[in-house]
Amino acid sequence: MDKVVSLAKRRGFIYPSSEIYGGIAGFWDYGPLGTELKRNIKNEWWKSMVQRRTDVVGLDASIIMNPQVWKASGHVESFSDPLVECKLCHKRFRADKKEEVKEHAKKEHPDVKVEWTEPRAFNLLVKTELGVVEDKKLEAYLRGEITQGVFVNFKNVLDSNRVKIPFGIAQIGKAFRNEITPGNFTYRSREFEQMELEFFIAPDETEGVKWFEYWKKTRLDWYLSLGMNKVHLRYRDHADDEKAHYAKHATDIEYHAPFGWSEFEGIHHRGDWDLTRHKLSYKNDEGKEFVPWVIETSGGVDRSTLFFLLDAYFEDGKRVVLKLHPKLAPYKAAVFPLVANKEELVDVARKIYDNVREEYMVAWDDRGNIGKRYASQDEIGTPSCVTVDYQTLDDQTVTIRDRDTAEQKRIPIDGVLSEIRNQQL
Ligand code: GAP
Repeated sequence: MDKVVSLAKRRGFIYPSSEIYGGIAGFWDYGPLGTELKRNIKNEWWKSMVQRRTDVVGLDASIIMNPQVWKASGHVESFSDPLVECKLCHKRFRADKKEEVKEHAKKEHPDVKVEWTEPRAFNLLVKTELGVVEDKKLEAYLRGEITQGVFVNFKNVLDSNRVKIPFGIAQIGKAFRNEITPGNFTYRSREFEQMELEFFIAPDETEGVKWFEYWKKTRLDWYLSLGMNKVHLRYRDHADDEKAHYAKHATDIEYHAPFGWSEFEGIHHRGDWDLTRHKLSYKNDEGKEFVPWVIETSGGVDRSTLFFLLDAYFEDGKRVVLKLHPKLAPYKAAVFPLVANKEELVDVARKIYDNVREEYMVAWDDRGNIGKRYASQDEIGTPSCVTVDYQTLDDQTVTIRDRDTAEQKRIPIDGVLSEIRNQQL
């Protein structure tokens, strides 16, 4: 974990937010490479969940909604964590995180017996105020899950699109939670991104089981298709006492992180909870009106980004390699002129670089020895390095080196783009 956190900072994947002012707990900024990685994860998700399906449409709802939404959805009443407070230093902890509570007493107050308050519910919704007149400000919430934007637009989507049950509405966007104990790097943040599907089905037990199982498998397969190691993934069903207020059944997809098995996507059977609370329904072709059930897949973009990074980190002798799937790698290739002060080499390399970056993100490096340049690209997960050398000037070929095997071969300049395209298949 420490190695990945330090790599993330050093190479520009993830920085603490507002660091020059001491940072702020639970907030993170994505640097140039982290932005690309996160964007690639979201693009792949969108392709598989919307673009390549005929039964899902997309949505992009606002972050702040009428506060009534959160009353109807049950979040004002029930979206809370049980908290205990240390009576000595007034630090608060989640009552269900027994290890953290013990650790605090041992580390911070080793010589005294720590007393704790009884657990109290602490609402996670982040409040804000709108308007300019002081005593007429409207109290609103930053959305605690992106989900409600889908439900409040259910009728709009039905009226403006030819969708029929079973169908889904997908969305990616920011959510905010007043987490009491943000931590484990980006894992528990106060601002984070979700990628979610709300899939509407007929209110029928058999349909419910069928689609719940379908989405469980489809979502796990997606992580495997992008190279996550199978042994680092597992399902975990929620016990009755840990289910969210809206869930009939819930299964998490967990990753075997250095800090233990950790949820990063939830498959939830929300039944008719949300549409009923918003007084919405659906009429089928026969004119029968009913409240559909919802199967939800809710993944965290930041948690996926962290776990893709952890899963891809390898040390191979002295070499550090991020074996990210080529579809996720921030740069798809790097182009090097063998030496920076030989104009003919630089000109050819520039042409290759300009040509490839019309289609893909490509790195350019002309500093230092070639071995160091390879090492630098391995560490950020660039799948291919293309080097223009003296032979290139004679026979119009370049070397292309593979990140994972470190093997090199010569290919014609004309073949560089198709070589990179093939990796993206
Ligand atoms: N709409 C359902 C929902 O929001 P959730 O299990 O509370 O369900 C879904 O959240 C996903 O959102 C989680 O699996 C996780 O990936 C991400 N997530 C939730 N809280 C988070 C936090 N504090 N920091 C980072 N990601 C978080």
